[in-house]
Amino acid sequence: MVLKEMTRPLSLALTEEHEMLLAAVRDFAQREIAPVAAEYDESGEFPIDTVRKMGEMGLMGIEMPEEYGGAGMDTLAHVLTMIEIAKADASHSTILSVNNSLYCNGILWFGSEAQKREWITPVASGEEIGAYSLTEPMSGSDAGNMASRAVLNEAGSHYIINGRKSWVTSAPFADRIVLFTMTADNPPRSPHSNGGKQKGKITAFLIDTREPGFSRGKTEPKLGIRASATSEIIFDNYACPVENVLGGVGQGFKIAMTVLDAGRIGIAAQALGIAEAAYEAALIYAREREAFGAPIGSYQMIQQKIADMKTRIEAGRALIYQAIIAKERALAKGTRYTSEASMAKLFCSETAAFVTDEALQIHGGMGYSKELPLERYYRDARITRIYEGTSEIQRMVIARKELGLR
Ligand code: CAA
Repeated sequence: MVLKEMTRPLSLALTEEHEMLLAAVRDFAQREIAPVAAEYDESGEFPIDTVRKMGEMGLMGIEMPEEYGGAGMDTLAHVLTMIEIAKADASHSTILSVNNSLYCNGILWFGSEAQKREWITPVASGEEIGAYSLTEPMSGSDAGNMASRAVLNEAGSHYIINGRKSWVTSAPFADRIVLFTMTADNPPRSPHSNGGKQKGKITAFLIDTREPGFSRGKTEPKLGIRASATSEIIFDNYACPVENVLGGVGQGFKIAMTVLDAGRIGIAAQALGIAEAAYEAALIYAREREAFGAPIGSYQMIQQKIADMKTRIEAGRALIYQAIIAKERALAKGTRYTSEASMAKLFCSETAAFVTDEALQIHGGMGYSKELPLERYYRDARITRIYEGTSEIQRMVIARKELGLR
């Protein structure tokens, strides 16, 4: 059984629909996004026009059923899209990933029929922007350790939410947010505790940011993915109707983790896209740049870098494909693909760091200059080892599974 599991073939063939999607997204990304990427990186402005165009193309809800405003495609389609968009600009792919994976998936998998219609449709169709809010100032990797609170009012009609959440991707522009907060009377715990029994008291809520009691805090000034706006959000007696509880009171932690499994495949694809962009630039440079009377690509030290970059990129792709297969099987059978998603994210994000560094090195001084996109790829790649679970958390998840600790 174990042997069978370990040797199962990778069989993800692109259908005609995938090929058409790939060609359309590649063309759009290179024609409309790549030329403006440096400008948005410099200004840190949210690229609302091109995000709307991604919505018009059906990319903001690519895996959502058409009846909820989506494109009705599969995870492979999402991955192909993420790679192409990230190759043009990582910021755009971050916005795309959160909208698709972290916002829409949670509602599709855990929402009632009415919630799906009301909360997925405007976001999957790209008319509105969705976000996902788990992290707090004192809880990042230890996601269960929350201080924010939702308390049911006396009438039993609304949860009154108070608290501050941080590092919320797209928050400055999000119309709707899937929020995770505590529905418990006990006081906030020490920041030094480790999650404990609180996880069973976390609940997911569907938040409309246009309602009173919601506001945004400071926008983070970031090293990379600068055009994807990230901010704090603040709840001050926000009254959330009980109908907007997602998946049942106390189910929030499992919902957050289930959704992150899918999100991590998306971030792996984003990392692969950044790595491919850097690699392709390095290939061109290695062919064209001459030193000591010959193209630098003719020297073994450059060839070693090219070989290692290419090998790691293809290994990352194989891990992503393995995670897609595991996800499709899990959705059909109700099993989990946590470890496969973590391995793909871990390897691809570390590969993006390696490849962008080597590609910059091949370019020498030019790679360090803002005249070329190499330094942007290098900065953008860095976040993939941090968000949606750090590399350390991915290793913990993988090792726990291997050791049978969870
Ligand atoms: N799917 C379903 N259930 C899961 C699960 C998963 N992937 N992972 C854990 N669970 C369940 C467990 O089965 C367990 O359930 P029981 O109590 O019924 O047994 C429960 O959740 C608690 O699990 P653990 O005891 O393993 O929890 P833990 O606290 O020890 O560890 C963790 C969990 C893996 C470290 C988790 O906290 C984690 O992934 N942390 C990182 C958080 C993260 O990725 N944050 C990024 C936020 S999003 C972002 O980056 C911003 C953005 O906008 C892009």
